[in-house]
Amino acid sequence: MTGYAVQITGLRKNFGTHTALDGVDLAIPAGQVFGLLGPNGAGKTTTVRVLTTLLRADAGQVLVAGADVATDPQQVRRNIGLSGQYAAVDDRLTGFENLYLVARLYGMTRRRSTAVARDLLDRFRLTDAADRQAAGYSGGMRRRLDLAGALVAAPPVVVLDEPTTGLDPQSRLDVWEVVGELVGGGTTVLLTTQYLEEADQLADRIAVLNHGRVIAEGSSDELKQQAGGERLELVLGQLRDLPAVLQLLEGLGELIVDERARRITVPVSDGQRALAAVLDLLNANRIRLLDAGLRRPTLDEVFLGLTTPVAEKVSA
Ligand SMILES: Nc1ncnc2c1ncn2[C@@H]1O[C@H](COP(=O)(O)OP(=O)(O)OP(=O)(O)O)[C@@H](O)[C@H]1O
Ligand SMILES: [Mg+2]
Repeated sequence: MTGYAVQITGLRKNFGTHTALDGVDLAIPAGQVFGLLGPNGAGKTTTVRVLTTLLRADAGQVLVAGADVATDPQQVRRNIGLSGQYAAVDDRLTGFENLYLVARLYGMTRRRSTAVARDLLDRFRLTDAADRQAAGYSGGMRRRLDLAGALVAAPPVVVLDEPTTGLDPQSRLDVWEVVGELVGGGTTVLLTTQYLEEADQLADRIAVLNHGRVIAEGSSDELKQQAGGERLELVLGQLRDLPAVLQLLEGLGELIVDERARRITVPVSDGQRALAAVLDLLNANRIRLLDAGLRRPTLDEVFLGLTTPVAEKVSA
């Protein structure tokens, strides 16, 4: 074992003339949550489909727990559980029957299948709906049932494609909790998401995918660091102080001014010292502030900075 649950090298996939994956390299350490983050059409689902043997790549290599998806797909399938972007639930069956069926397909005994299905229904708060036909489930319930299905065989690698899209806040927290439990039990989780907050909360490492390429990778802290460190943010009490303040702060760094919000932002290296100095200076000059503080970039800003073409950023 290499310590990696999934290793992807030079992965390429074209659909006709459209390049969906343009040389993706990823190494996902075992026992961690890895977040694949990207806007619509970035290639997240395509990556997931290749990884789970549902789609053949044009080039590159994908190993799951050491097994090659191209030459040993059976072995890969034994090691992986998938909850796809669109819930794969059989509407004619009840919630219980959906999970029971999956367990039986994995070769579990009737007794074991019943126990596994009941346990998963409980973990996803579906016990009350267990004996109702899935056709009558809400979108969130279907999603939770599908997630439960991915966990039936307790695979060492679980792949979740946008697991919380369309879920209400409570259901989202439930899913997060289950992801936490899985990793606590040693499972490797690869999840795709468009929610930066989700990647920030859950993922040990994050790769940002855009136009079929990994454009950044690291822990959420590392990514935030990349977007520049701390910033000092001041909100003026009155707009008419702005020219005076800009003059006082000259030389501190590149000032970013948002007149409508009466806000001045400046990147700083020693934030605490800079904040103290600026407050002293403004006090001495009787400038009234509505708000002052240190801020680190949010993952949202990192993401937008990485995925927005420069021209758009300027006009925005
Ligand atoms: N079967 C297909 N045939 C043709 N084009 C496809 C096919 N599957 C994906 N694509 C294209 O490949 C690109 C990547 O799609 P993919 O579904 O991997 O994106 P995604 O990151 O999962 O996006 P989303 O956030 O919308 O789910 C898109 O431009 C998409 O239109
Ligand atoms: Mg997708």
